[in-house]
Amino acid sequence: MSETFFVTTALPYANGPFHIGHIMEYIQADIWVRFERMQGHRVHFVGADDAHGAPIMLKAEAQGVSPQELVARIAAGRPRYLEGFHIGFDHWYSTDSPENVALSQDIYRRLKAAGLIYARPVEQFYDPLKGMFLADRYIKGECPKCHSKDQYGDACEVCSSVYSPTELIEPYSTLTGAKPVLKSSDHFFFRLSDPRCVAFLHEWLEHPGHVQPQVANKAREWLSGEGERALSDWDISRDAPYFGIAIPDAPGKYFYVWLDAPIGYLASLKNYFESGKARANGEPRGFEEFLRAADTRQVHFIGKDIIYFHTLFWPAMLKFAGAPYKVPDNVHVHGFITVSGEKMSKSRGTGISPLRYLEIGMNPQWLRYYIAAKLNANVVDLDFNPDDFVARVNSDLIGKYVNIASRAANFITRYFDGAIEYGPQLEALTEEARSVAGQVRESYESREFGLAMRLTMNFADRINQEFDARQPWVAAKDPGRRAQLQDTCARALYGFKVLSVLLAPVLPELSERVARELFGLDRPLRWDDLLEPPRRVNPYQHLMTRVDPRQLDALFEPADTQSDTAKTAEPAKAPKASPAPGAAEAAPAPRPEAVPATIGIDDFKKIDLRVARIAAAEHVAGADKLLKLTLDLGHETRTVFAGIKAAYDPQALVGRLTVMVANLAPRKMKFGLSEGMVLAASGEAGGPYLLCPDSGATPGMRIS
Ligand code: 2FM
Ligand code: ZN
Repeated sequence: MSETFFVTTALPYANGPFHIGHIMEYIQADIWVRFERMQGHRVHFVGADDAHGAPIMLKAEAQGVSPQELVARIAAGRPRYLEGFHIGFDHWYSTDSPENVALSQDIYRRLKAAGLIYARPVEQFYDPLKGMFLADRYIKGECPKCHSKDQYGDACEVCSSVYSPTELIEPYSTLTGAKPVLKSSDHFFFRLSDPRCVAFLHEWLEHPGHVQPQVANKAREWLSGEGERALSDWDISRDAPYFGIAIPDAPGKYFYVWLDAPIGYLASLKNYFESGKARANGEPRGFEEFLRAADTRQVHFIGKDIIYFHTLFWPAMLKFAGAPYKVPDNVHVHGFITVSGEKMSKSRGTGISPLRYLEIGMNPQWLRYYIAAKLNANVVDLDFNPDDFVARVNSDLIGKYVNIASRAANFITRYFDGAIEYGPQLEALTEEARSVAGQVRESYESREFGLAMRLTMNFADRINQEFDARQPWVAAKDPGRRAQLQDTCARALYGFKVLSVLLAPVLPELSERVARELFGLDRPLRWDDLLEPPRRVNPYQHLMTRVDPRQLDALFEPADTQSDTAKTAEPAKAPKASPAPGAAEAAPAPRPEAVPATIGIDDFKKIDLRVARIAAAEHVAGADKLLKLTLDLGHETRTVFAGIKAAYDPQALVGRLTVMVANLAPRKMKFGLSEGMVLAASGEAGGPYLLCPDSGATPGMRIS
């Protein structure tokens, strides 16, 4: 049955750019959204900036701008990240919006009418100079236990004791340095401890699928806490000055940011509906009708640090506000992202800057794949390990997936003019595809993305093994085995199409290119396409480059040297600016002063040198120095533009063996894509002289 989803990710504070944790969460949700759409469900995927609160107010003040200006400036930077990583929110809005004011005040009034709001005085530290109540983070003083100076108001970073700010010795306001005074003020509370709330939340948590089991256990612990750990009511108000939404009939009082933040999900949805975008996205109903509908599923993706808000307050607020508000159907919680096993820290330089990732030209789909391959449905941290990243992306996406297309399509275009014909075993392959796809579908559905990727790559292995076992490069030499050659490549291309469908939620751009360029479809791939064996293929065009390990070096370079690198464009550190990665020109003679530093054998082993047969060589129109070479590597062919025109007649090269660097990142040149480099010597005595292996060597042999 087709369902309609309303999907959100946690709303980021609007006081800074996205960090890698945000991007990981958005990629997780985006993959799931794309998958559900491929299953025929209608999905509305919305986000927003979480604009309110004291930190944003104070930051804006420090910068001499209004909070609205600060939020707008941060919001203006969002599309760069979202588009950069192919994260397809249908709408992005702000909690500082008229819709959010109306919805927050409406929900508050309903909760009040239900008897779940009350007021009581709260005594709190107040900065008399600033004229403002101080949250714990704005108070420092001497630790009452170990007497360390300058400790925060809630806990000591030296001895780890936890205390209340009133226990600090010689407290001071971090905003002005003034000595804070205790002052009383009325606060509003949401009665979370009300038996109706507690009973409802137990019931809601009981429902399988609302939250993961370990999340339900955690929430139940909080619900059932006793003594000091008993469930507290929730202080939902803050006194002026505060950047937030005014509480009705309570001058000078504002909603605490965490009250209006999740309501911001609904505010964004409402604005999306009322701006006509939902209709354009196939939604015939209005906002309220949509929320009330039985087939609407409200799904939130969040991190493990905000479970409390999303599994206690948020469902309870919605439940007791009543229709059209509905309680969440799923709150999916993920862990944090760590880097090489360590928590991220900017000062230690282990963080990954998403913007730098994009700026140095790393492919966003590599990260999407890597995150998918490491995610599961549990609340566990995901570790980004640079070596693992390079190995996994290169081995899976290039070695197993993309290579199938380049290997098989070249034969089909060369020998059969693009026509695909199958032998008698096609049905068995279709059945296999159906069965694998069923398992992959279940894995996506349950957010076991790592499993989905493993199942997909197992199928890729299967397709590659069959292709290798049938040795089409041998059949290609025998005109009597054309039908066998065609069937072998046809099956591989069908396998490739299936893989492209299975990977489409993760690799949206690549799968669109495959659909359009390779299979000539004028629409994105659909899930059912995996049951349609392709009948034609267009000439293979380069689909994806390998990760160059130097890009990881550049990604992790300490922040303070990054701008210098960009200025000096030092090749080893800034691959994008380095001369000729994937260069095809024959290597120039090293000048004496340019002799490179000694390297270890491990460095040498990183270069994949192969024997290649020059299958074709031709002049390139408009190029002074280049010849276009088609190199046969045994199992695949590569196109390389080589700067050897002055020394060689193309015709004389055909059939010769030479040596190429096979793992050089492909390079886009004016005349086309160059997929490696041939080796040649040159020096005072002239050149270039192409390298040539001794007789007996065959195409594809590894040189070591
Ligand atoms: O923790 C945070 O970054 C919050 N800004 C998340 C808010 S999620 C939702 F409630 F809006
Ligand atoms: Zn201490």
